[in-house]
Amino acid sequence: MLRYNSLIGFRIQPYNDTFLYETGFVTITKSPDLFEFFLDFFMKICIIYFMTRDYAVKILREKLKNTNLFKHSLAAEACLKELAERLGEDVEKWALAGLLHDIDYEETNKQPTRHGLVGAEYLETFGLDNDIINAVKVHAGHLPAESKLDWALFAADPLTGLIVASALMHPDKSLKALDVDFVLRRFKEKRFAAGAKREQIMTCKNLGLELNDFIEICLRGMQKISDELGL
Ligand SMILES: [Fe+2]
Repeated sequence: MLRYNSLIGFRIQPYNDTFLYETGFVTITKSPDLFEFFLDFFMKICIIYFMTRDYAVKILREKLKNTNLFKHSLAAEACLKELAERLGEDVEKWALAGLLHDIDYEETNKQPTRHGLVGAEYLETFGLDNDIINAVKVHAGHLPAESKLDWALFAADPLTGLIVASALMHPDKSLKALDVDFVLRRFKEKRFAAGAKREQIMTCKNLGLELNDFIEICLRGMQKISDELGL
């Protein structure tokens, strides 16, 4: 018996020879028969058709329990969205790449070499665009960057951390108090937020953007969601 579970999630009540089956984050208990084939097909269509931002956030919340990691995903989304608007790219696609790029982070915590690959598999299951899947692989170092989206995600990922750390050390402890010069000064202090790799951020030049422009765009994007980021 099918029971409607969420926008695209369906749960089947256990019966006869049931077994667990997972499609992305939708766990199904079902009977191993022909019905399986049609259910798989139906699920994929639903996922492709209904992958809205709200549903992506819902999935992400299930996969990332760490609040800071979840906020990092929102920050990356905000940066990618702002960059896409500035560069005349597909805003929805770029934003989704930012939002979901670390979806497997907790799952691959103990096997960091799998980070990005497991996430890419999930995104494939969701039927997301290949450009997004490639960018996710690229950001974790599994593929060389080729497209603008690849470079945008690769360069913005560490910048979100630098901007958050800058906000935290500012006397006002808020994103809205920051300006480009303040973040640029932090960028030049090598020991400050050392995990935010400067060379990686500098690859923004592959987008045709100077560092100060890149910081300005990402900072503006993050300032727009300062309440969600709690800064
Ligand atoms: Fe990230």
